[in-house]
Amino acid sequence: MNTPTCIPRDLMTLQEGSLPIIRRPRRNRASEAWRGLVTETLLKPSQLVYPVFVTEGPCVPIASMPGVFRLPVEDLLEEIEELLTVGIQAINIFCHIHNKKKDAIGTEAYRTDGLLPTAIQEVKRRFPELLVIADIALDPFTSHGLDGLIDEDMYVVNDPTIVALGHMALRAAEAGVDIISPSDMMDGRVGYLRHLLDTKGFCRVGILSYAVKFASSLYSPFREALDSSPRKGDKKTFQVNPANAREALLECALDDQEAADMLLIKPAITSLDIIAKVRSQTLLPIGAYQVSGEYAMIKAAAANGWINGEEVLMESLIAIRRAGADFIFTYAAKEAAGLLKK
Ligand code: PBG
Repeated sequence: MNTPTCIPRDLMTLQEGSLPIIRRPRRNRASEAWRGLVTETLLKPSQLVYPVFVTEGPCVPIASMPGVFRLPVEDLLEEIEELLTVGIQAINIFCHIHNKKKDAIGTEAYRTDGLLPTAIQEVKRRFPELLVIADIALDPFTSHGLDGLIDEDMYVVNDPTIVALGHMALRAAEAGVDIISPSDMMDGRVGYLRHLLDTKGFCRVGILSYAVKFASSLYSPFREALDSSPRKGDKKTFQVNPANAREALLECALDDQEAADMLLIKPAITSLDIIAKVRSQTLLPIGAYQVSGEYAMIKAAAANGWINGEEVLMESLIAIRRAGADFIFTYAAKEAAGLLKK
C-alpha cells in the first residue's frame, strides 16, 4: 500500500497529456503574448474620471483616504496638470465649504460667485479640453447634511428639492460645465433638469445621472472629506435599498426615459450584478463609481501589507469594466493611469 506522502512522487511519472481531456483552456494562458491576444476587457486612462474635493480653506489631507486632499482651486489646477500627463481627461467636482456658511436650504449652492461656479470657471479657462463634471446635490451645503430641502420631520421633500437643484445646476452651466451629475436620488429630477437646461439655452450640457445610488456605508470617508455626514438620521428615504435589484433597474429605466446622457451606478464593487443587468437593459453609456470606502479598504489593507494594493486596485477596476461599465469614477484614477502607462 502506498502511503500518502508517496503519491506526488508517483504522479510525476505520469506522462503529461496522457489523460483524455477534451478541451484544455490553459492553452490560451500559456504566455504573455497568448494571454494578450485573448484578453476580453481593456482599461484605458480615458475611461477613468477623477473625483476632486475643492475647498475654500487650505489644502487638507483626508485621513481615511490616503493620497486624497481637499484642494484650494490653485492646487487643483496643478493637480490637473499631472492628471493630463497620465492621460486622465475628466474630473468630477465636489465642494467643501466652511460649516458656518451652511444653512438649512443650502444657500451657498445657488450663488453665482459660489465655490462650484468659481472652480468650474477657473478650470475651464485654464484647461478648456478637460471634461468637467459637477456634482449636483445639496449635502455639502446644508447644515443638516441631507441632500435636499427638509420638512419638520427631516423628510427630504422631493419637488422643492429638484427646483433647488435646478438653481444649482444653472450656476454650473453658466460657469461652463460640460456635464452635471445629479447625485441626490430625487424622483423626476433628470427630466426636470433636462427641460430647465434646454429652456435656458444649455442644450449642450450633458446629464450624467446617479441612476442607482445604494444607501451604503461605504460613503463615510467621503463624508469626512466634505464634513457632510447627516447630523441626524440617514439617507434611506431616497437612496436605494442594497437588497433591491428590480428597483435599481426601475431607476435606470426612468432616467433613461427622462433623457439622461449616461447612467452612474454606485458603489461599484458591491453592484457588479446591477451593472451587468443595466448593461443589458439600456443603450446608454454606464459609469460605475468606486466610492470612498472601496478606495479606503484597498489602501488600508495595502498599508498593513495584507494585500498588494496596486494589484488589487487594477483587479477591481477591470472587474468593474468586465461587469459592463464603460467608465469608472475612482480616487485612484491618477495612480491607475500611471500603472497603465508602465
Ligand atoms: C452626496 C454624495 C455622496 C457621494 C457622492 N455624492 C455621499 C452620500 O450620499 O452621502 C459618495 C461618494 C463616495 O463615497 O466616494 N450627494
